[in-house]
Amino acid sequence: MSALDEPLRFDARSLLAAGVPAKVTLVGAGPGDPELLTIKAANALRAAQVVLHDSLVGDGVLDVVPPTAHRIYVGKRAGCHAMSQRAIIELMLQLARSGRPVLRLKGGDPYVFGRGGEEAQALAAAGVPFEVIPGISAAQGAAASAGMPLTHRDHARALVFATGHLQGVGDARTVDLDWPMLARPRQTVVIYMGLGALPVICAQLMQHGMPGDTPAATVERATCADERTIAGTLETLPALARVQGVRSPALIVIGEVVRLRDTLAMTNTATGAAVVNAAGA
Ligand SMILES: C[S@@+](CC[C@H](N)C(=O)[O-])C[C@H]1O[C@@H](n2cnc3c(N)ncnc32)[C@H](O)[C@@H]1O
Repeated sequence: MSALDEPLRFDARSLLAAGVPAKVTLVGAGPGDPELLTIKAANALRAAQVVLHDSLVGDGVLDVVPPTAHRIYVGKRAGCHAMSQRAIIELMLQLARSGRPVLRLKGGDPYVFGRGGEEAQALAAAGVPFEVIPGISAAQGAAASAGMPLTHRDHARALVFATGHLQGVGDARTVDLDWPMLARPRQTVVIYMGLGALPVICAQLMQHGMPGDTPAATVERATCADERTIAGTLETLPALARVQGVRSPALIVIGEVVRLRDTLAMTNTATGAAVVNAAGA
């Protein structure tokens, strides 16, 4: 039975407010470790009736959702979309208009490369009340557990989050980013969704003046029990990541702060995560 066919199960006041849609709550699930949920997010999850969730939401986070709640997987992984963005928005609107409060659960933070902005715009345009509960973004989770402060007075006074999606086809594939800005010194660059474009990203940064020996790392499944960091330099990281079989979800972190992991990487008593120190950093 689809969530839309389910009998309504909430107090009569909602029903009486005919024409007033139920609320949609956009909730950040954090980077994976369920203990990194905010208290507000955990409370919203415990009270949820219908949950629309993405692929990057950890199982431990979904365990907080009551068994009586409807869980609808609407995830998107590269090349394999359970539902288009348009269909996700339509479903949220339909559920809310039918009086069902919706919890829209998104990996990390809803407003960091999560299309939460588009979803909130659609809700606002449709007159559906909504709330946004922020989450810890993957970069923050990775920084803490892999031991790379994103800013540091001696190494990085600016921080850039960018998305590394490859565009185009075949040999003409490229990443459309502001390379001169990204190649500036004394900043940390964190690239989301950039694993497939890692060689292009490193090559472009070097072509735009970033030294080849700039420290760079991938952090895979940050904050999860099987987290793995592979560190090298702009010159060495693409080959290291290929040899080590780095897989998505992973972030690319570029800048001097990567060196700090030698002293700051947690032994991960909290997550049990493995820190793999590859040669070259
Ligand atoms: C669609 S974006 C979602 C970002 C999310 N809203 C956030 O704030 O972290 C998906 C990308 O985030 C990154 N990502 C998400 N979770 C991650 C994790 N646990 N470890 C490393 N990277 C992660 C990867 O680059 C992945 O391809």
